[in-house]
Amino acid sequence: MHACGKKGRCTTCKIILKSGEENLSPPTKPELDYLSQGRLKCGERLSCQAELTTGEIVVRVGEFNKFPHIAYSE
Ligand code: FES
Repeated sequence: MHACGKKGRCTTCKIILKSGEENLSPPTKPELDYLSQGRLKCGERLSCQAELTTGEIVVRVGEFNKFPHIAYSE
């Protein structure tokens, strides 16, 4: 949802990585802070913070973060 304007201050943009984690930039300070607080789990990233460096990724959006008007593949 990007509720904070992509500033790393919420977690509404959270993605759950299914594959390709190695193709993303290292976690940013906001992501590390959320990881230490347990608001992000291993294998979860903030889409506003993670940059695709090479290759592809496959992600899933958690139920809490889904828009009701969008059809998700799973
Ligand atoms: S949009 Fe708020 S943390 Fe990514």
